[in-house]
Amino acid sequence: MTDLQTDAEGRLRHLLSLEGLPRPELERLLERAQRLTADAHGGTAQRGVLAGKAVCTLFFEPSTRTRSSFSLAAQRLGADLLNFDASTASTTKGEADLDTLKTLEAMGVHAFVVRHKRDGAVAELAAAAEPGTVLLNAGDGRSNHPTQGLLDMLTLRQAKGADFSRLKVAIVGDVKHSRVARSDLHALRTLGCGEIRVCGPASLLPDDDTLRGCTVTDDLDAALDGVDAAMMLRLQRERMAEGLVASIEDYHRDYGLTDSRLARAAPDAIVMHPGPMNRGVEITDAVADGPQSRVLRQVANGVAVRMAVLEALLG
Ligand code: CP
Repeated sequence: MTDLQTDAEGRLRHLLSLEGLPRPELERLLERAQRLTADAHGGTAQRGVLAGKAVCTLFFEPSTRTRSSFSLAAQRLGADLLNFDASTASTTKGEADLDTLKTLEAMGVHAFVVRHKRDGAVAELAAAAEPGTVLLNAGDGRSNHPTQGLLDMLTLRQAKGADFSRLKVAIVGDVKHSRVARSDLHALRTLGCGEIRVCGPASLLPDDDTLRGCTVTDDLDAALDGVDAAMMLRLQRERMAEGLVASIEDYHRDYGLTDSRLARAAPDAIVMHPGPMNRGVEITDAVADGPQSRVLRQVANGVAVRMAVLEALLG
């Protein structure tokens, strides 16, 4: 993955994963995203950065936040934007993903922002793309969601400062099926997070090396004790059908973040959720909309982070 992601000089040529991304590169992207926050929500100051470049959002799975914010980011940098919708494209006639990419590449698209349900699908497209074509992973299977990881780290930095060494962070919920959790874990480790706690029912925790170095528990109260940030994950409801969760009510009782549970965290702890949220399941309305929630800050940071990434790869 790292060889595909970087060139011989160590420069980023695709963004496929945060795993192996060196700390200086990760911090440089976060610092640039922070500087771009003023331009991320309006203004024309950055419109010349990607003028003449074409960016395509190539989504084979649904999205609200990632697709919209990549689209805005590309437009705020002055790129031409092509939105590909798999549900109305020749994909429905059986066209292979690589043929789709090659077709759009032939039209002069320079960068593809790709979401795919299959692990590794974006890396495979990157390996087959023309030299100079840029692939940005907008979420593949349960493996990677690198820009979500970056925007989560930016949100943490804004709240807690750039030194993560004394931070205690809890990641709660369906870690096993979460590409967000994997990208957050890569980034938190790289940035030297003091303590990473992972909490969920055993059926929703991975049994590979995903959780190396983490404190793992199925007790949410213990996981939240004194933490600086609680990162809640979406319960993927199909997990109930798979028998991995007994019922929504049981899950909410054991792993739902309520005001009384949040009181166990540090008084200035922040609450994060990548969205979409299942209100009343993994998080209550009172917490999601409360003063410690940074859910909409995460969304806002998504535009700046995606501008920084597009600029780094295409600018
Ligand atoms: N967080 C996230 O990836 O949301 P979307 O599925 O809406 O893009």
